[in-house]
Amino acid sequence: PQRPLIDGFGRRISYLRISVTDRCDFRCVYCMSEDMTFLPKKDVLSFEEVEAIAGAFIARGTTRIRLTGGEPLVRRDIMALVESLGSRIGHGLDELTLTTNGSQLGRHAQGLHAAGVRRINVSLDTLDAERFRQITRRGRIEDVMSGIGAAQAAGLEIKINMVAMRGVNDHEIEPMMDWAHGQGMGLTLIEGMPLGDVGMDRVDAHLPLRELHDRLAQRYTFTRLAKRTGGPARYVHVAETGGTLGFITPMSHNFCESCNRVRLTATGQLYLCLGQDDQVNLRDALRSGGPEALDAALDHAMLIKPKGHDFVLDRTHAEPAVARHMSVTGG
Ligand code: GTP
Ligand code: 5AD
Ligand code: SF4
Repeated sequence: PQRPLIDGFGRRISYLRISVTDRCDFRCVYCMSEDMTFLPKKDVLSFEEVEAIAGAFIARGTTRIRLTGGEPLVRRDIMALVESLGSRIGHGLDELTLTTNGSQLGRHAQGLHAAGVRRINVSLDTLDAERFRQITRRGRIEDVMSGIGAAQAAGLEIKINMVAMRGVNDHEIEPMMDWAHGQGMGLTLIEGMPLGDVGMDRVDAHLPLRELHDRLAQRYTFTRLAKRTGGPARYVHVAETGGTLGFITPMSHNFCESCNRVRLTATGQLYLCLGQDDQVNLRDALRSGGPEALDAALDHAMLIKPKGHDFVLDRTHAEPAVARHMSVTGG
């Protein structure tokens, strides 16, 4: 690229996460409150605008794009966007991926593969139907299971994301790993992060993954794997299951020094860090000034990208680090 995006700490930004909607058919307890106010529909970017912004990033060296939500597959006509972004693979873009709750995969899995998507992340925190109902408040595990089946049949590589919560699903980690690895899928465990007020006691539910890693390492043989995506997860290969296990530990280990990413919301705000409020309004730049203003806004974004988040979680710091919910930026 002509002018790669490099921030004030020398980090090369090559990965864009695009939240196509903050809406979701689920209300996971660690992500949303029961009654959510969503972004006004009139403020949501058109697909043409998303494509223009994605194009500006690709021209500046972005090689990976991940679509997120809310739930990306509940956005109307989403496959049109997947197809147009997919057509850029091989022309600057190396990879287009998606993070989904799986509920709509049954009808979209084949289309995703046909558009060039090769791997997806599916959020699933339990294998128990009743507990699934409690965690998601309104999801049906059967829909997710059949969606996963459809994605496998379509040839998509799948990684399961599991938010580990003490007293909720911590006893399910080994069964989840056996199941996921048995199906040829990866499993990544995630520490809950303090984004948005969800009315849940995150201190009680916090499960330090370092502790869990050590517990699992007594029963399983782990071999450390090299980082694959430049993302936050640290991966091990598990000899007994033959699968890959990932750990995302923002609470107990901060990985910000190697951050390679920024996040676009459905309304065109570019958030520069998951745990901070610093943002640039790309929608206004594009609407009022066109491609040149957009490009200038990207330069400005690089100047203000913060060093990292400073999540702390204990009884005296139990409030969210930022007020916005995870569903605004899709993680
Ligand atoms: P890659 O795109 O392959 O790196 O996958 P990923 O695991 O980062 O993506 P996914 O959308 O599946 O996110 C899994 C979890 O990682 C979510 O809980 C995200 O919020 C979290 N996550 C992703 N990027 C970051 C980051 O830069 N900082 C922090 N703290 N968490 C992140
Ligand atoms: N902390 C950690 N992970 C979260 N997710 C949603 N909310 C949170 C949170 N507060 C996860 C979802 C999904 C991914 C995008 O982020 O389970 O897998
Ligand atoms: Fe929806 Fe994902 Fe949030 Fe659950 S975690 S409510 S599936 S956006």
